[in-house]
Amino acid sequence: MKKHVKGEVVRIQLRLNGEERSARCEPRTLLSDFLRDGLGATGTHVGCEHGVCGACTVQIDGVASRACLTLAVQVDGRAVDTVEGLADEQDRLSDLQEAFRRNHALQCGFCTAGILMSCDDYLRRKPDPSEAEVRDMLSGHLCRCTGYTNIVKAVLETAAARRGGPGKLPEQ
Ligand code: FES
Ligand code: FES
Repeated sequence: MKKHVKGEVVRIQLRLNGEERSARCEPRTLLSDFLRDGLGATGTHVGCEHGVCGACTVQIDGVASRACLTLAVQVDGRAVDTVEGLADEQDRLSDLQEAFRRNHALQCGFCTAGILMSCDDYLRRKPDPSEAEVRDMLSGHLCRCTGYTNIVKAVLETAAARRGGPGKLPEQ
């Protein structure tokens, strides 16, 4: 990576949710702050700011990543997707978002954007996960409200529906 000097400001160009965007920031700026303050993409939440809670999760070149552990300069020239990009152009929620809504898989919603971005990436790679595997994937996210049960249901239901099934609900 290029060396930067103190006080320097750099221009970052990226493809955000399919749209070419650019803004200036200091080289030390975190991607989470760049998205929120530099590009106005405030759907990405910031909780712990040290990689523990998962609230800031976005996708970089399609891979779920912690925006609070990534520098904005690291995404220069790359594709970043955030929760704002999950709905379609008519603002219709994605099937995963709909499943979260239907299953009451959120309460305050602080953790939700990050969880959705992780689940979206996960279901592309793992179309038929077990309940245990979904719970394992979710262990990278802290939710203080829901108890996770309905989040797990929403993810399994989405996976099953994509496979053409009626939904595979977790054991009670
Ligand atoms: S804010 Fe990034 S992991 Fe908590
Ligand atoms: S819904 Fe409140 S932290 Fe998860």
